[in-house]
Amino acid sequence: MEAEMNNILVIGATGQIGSELTPVLRDKYGNESVVATYLPNEEPGPELARGPLEEMNILNKVRLRNIIEKHDIDSVFNLAAILSAKGEEAPAKAFKVNVLGFYYLLELGRKLDLTRIIIPSSIGVFGPEVPSKNAPNETVLRPTSMYGVTKVTDELLGNYYFQKFGLDVRGFRLPGIISSKTLPGGGTTDYAVEVFYEAIREGHYTFFVREDTTLPLMYMPDCVKSFIDLAEADLDNLEHHCDFNVSSMSFSAGELARKIEEFLPGFTYDFQPDERQKIADSWPDSLDDTPAREEWGWKPNYGLESMVKDMINKLEVKLQ
Ligand code: SER
Repeated sequence: MEAEMNNILVIGATGQIGSELTPVLRDKYGNESVVATYLPNEEPGPELARGPLEEMNILNKVRLRNIIEKHDIDSVFNLAAILSAKGEEAPAKAFKVNVLGFYYLLELGRKLDLTRIIIPSSIGVFGPEVPSKNAPNETVLRPTSMYGVTKVTDELLGNYYFQKFGLDVRGFRLPGIISSKTLPGGGTTDYAVEVFYEAIREGHYTFFVREDTTLPLMYMPDCVKSFIDLAEADLDNLEHHCDFNVSSMSFSAGELARKIEEFLPGFTYDFQPDERQKIADSWPDSLDDTPAREEWGWKPNYGLESMVKDMINKLEVKLQ
């Protein structure tokens, strides 16, 4: 019998994923049952104020414990992270937030007997040795970015806490996430979001990667679905815990530009790779996600065409 999630904490609820996952969790579990956290320097929008809100930095472990105890939290979604491009600018900060912050959470999970912790990993765990097409779930993990180093560490820590202490920690390797509500915060795959805003606002976009740069990507509705599906999966069916590949779509920057052009005739684009190209080149083009499909029934709904259409529809309303 699966232990239930009753009182949920979302750490990083104002971010790209948190701002869309939190309302869906509240619809499902009730506004009062989902506590959202934001950073001291952030302004949480009115939508997040629909349920309990707490200001918190994951590195403040005393505050983290107080919030968990105050709201009788049993399940935590940890979305606090410094992404790949920002992680290269501030590797020490990336290590602290991504690894130390998660370690504090794991320790509280063990001591306070939490039911479940969910943490996304990333395609950033892969390095250049991995087969580029259909990178297997089980493969060598030698990332060359600090972000990747922190995410491999998190996967190993989460798996260790499950094996050693029986703490139910779950996670998957997200591709680049494309979304219309909140911009991503400094990743390598940000071009796949920025291009939509610039195509609609300016009619032109300069990609910071080469035209042939191909990466695994996913649309936000599928990303939210992946969190809920994994969080609600029966533990008895899981052989993996924190290191599932999840795949949705893969395309090159050029293919994305041409698809957008089909919907927005006259859109122009060029390519001026910067230092983020190196990170993109170290990641695989596509992933094999057989374990996620077999162990918890993972199945995405969106492809390139349906994602581009929906993104343009949503952003044309938002940006008008
Ligand atoms: N979108 C992330 C990044 O680029 C990948 O996990 O850092």
